[in-house]
Amino acid sequence: MTKSQDAYRLISPSGIETELPVLRGSTGPDVIDIGRLYQEQGVFTYDPGFVATGSCTSDITFIDGEKGVLMYRGYPVEQLAAHSSFIEVAYLLLHGNLPKASELETFTETIRTHTMLNEGMMRFFGGFRYDAHPMAMLSAVVGSMSAYYHDTMDVNDPMHRDIFAHRILAKLPTIAAAAYKLNIGQPFIYPRNDLTYCENLLHMFFAVPAEPYEIDPIAADALDLLFILHADHEQNCSTSTVRMAGSSGANPYSAIAAGIAALWGPAHGGANEAVLNMLGEIGNAANIQKYIDKAKDKNDPFRLMGFGHRVYKSFDPRAKIIRKMTHKVLARLGRKDTPLFDLALALEEIALKDEYFIEKNLYPNVDFYSGIIYKALGIPTSMLTVMFAIGRSVGWTAHWREMISDPDGRISRPRQLYSGPTERGFVAIGER
Ligand code: ACO
Repeated sequence: MTKSQDAYRLISPSGIETELPVLRGSTGPDVIDIGRLYQEQGVFTYDPGFVATGSCTSDITFIDGEKGVLMYRGYPVEQLAAHSSFIEVAYLLLHGNLPKASELETFTETIRTHTMLNEGMMRFFGGFRYDAHPMAMLSAVVGSMSAYYHDTMDVNDPMHRDIFAHRILAKLPTIAAAAYKLNIGQPFIYPRNDLTYCENLLHMFFAVPAEPYEIDPIAADALDLLFILHADHEQNCSTSTVRMAGSSGANPYSAIAAGIAALWGPAHGGANEAVLNMLGEIGNAANIQKYIDKAKDKNDPFRLMGFGHRVYKSFDPRAKIIRKMTHKVLARLGRKDTPLFDLALALEEIALKDEYFIEKNLYPNVDFYSGIIYKALGIPTSMLTVMFAIGRSVGWTAHWREMISDPDGRISRPRQLYSGPTERGFVAIGER
């Protein structure tokens, strides 16, 4: 980051002039540093939802929403999707550069050997109802890691920060699989450290003790690609939540649990589950127009799930990759989910020609097609956001590490525009 020679001059109605420095990143729009505004002018800025506000400096991910560009540490996501693996991308996001062969080998080995959960943590699953939502279980069990690893987690110790990152990445699939097995009433399958990250996940999800389970390499590859695409997305809602919770110096496992809770919402990662539910509700192509009309109706709260994005205003590059992959996966894994995909394609085609969606720059986002692939892989609808969380856990961890090691870091504490009652006197209960 550099300070540009340019500055904005803000003159208040009473004539107080403040010079607001302009900061320049390595690419992307400049930002105006408003840090001195309150001190000099006595006013705050107002930007609910952070539509025009940068909350931090970050080296991790760059998005150009107008051009549909997404880069992790400078590498376009299309190149990583074509040539890399999720574990390699995880190393890149956490450490800043692509690993050398020996570094990748050590990192892969470390993740492989942190997959088991403390048995006490496993017993938590016995306390959940059989039909508990897996996102609720994921958030609760990850939160409980702060109880297991509190004394050994000094946020100021770089080695502890590394171990935290390894544990999150390695253990999330194990927690997710345990939640799934609880939901379907099957015995929990322990991790196997001889398998790759995604093979191990599929094994823990779908193997049963009674018979051998053969891992489908096509499914493992598809999962790996989806995790790459979900790995990071700069200051999105869940990542900002992790940064904010962590900014107080809180135990980072609790900060990740907060991020999982934020991701669950249907306006964020919960959209992939909502898309499948919506497609199920639409049922067939004859009903599409009715749902498009509902989405356009200001008096109807219905939104076309998997459409629209705060940042992307031309297209979501991840959706493009996933759309192409869906064709391939359905062709190779069998076509029983093809009608659902055909319905999604038909819905996309109609929406993209509709004036309302064109005018508001509403395009399919990453979640529009991801649910269909996950479904084809046998992952049930209720587990879709959990899959997203596994991929995104790398981004959360990378951002937490960046935030906590920033020497200029401060606790996140936004201001507000107060609109409640002004001062009034207490009224005794009998007189109200
Ligand atoms: N269907 C119908 N109308 C929509 C949709 C949609 N999916 N998305 C936005 N709009 C309309 C809004 O009604 C609004 O119209 P108005 O200007 O007339 O009031 C306008 O487009 C702008 O929408 P906002 O909600 O202000 O945009 P914002 O940037 O705050 O929200 C969001 C982005 C949450 C993604 C929104 O587009 C949405 O709800 N989409 C559906 C849910 C979804 O797919 N979420 C996943 C996002 S990707 C991710 O998190 C991984």
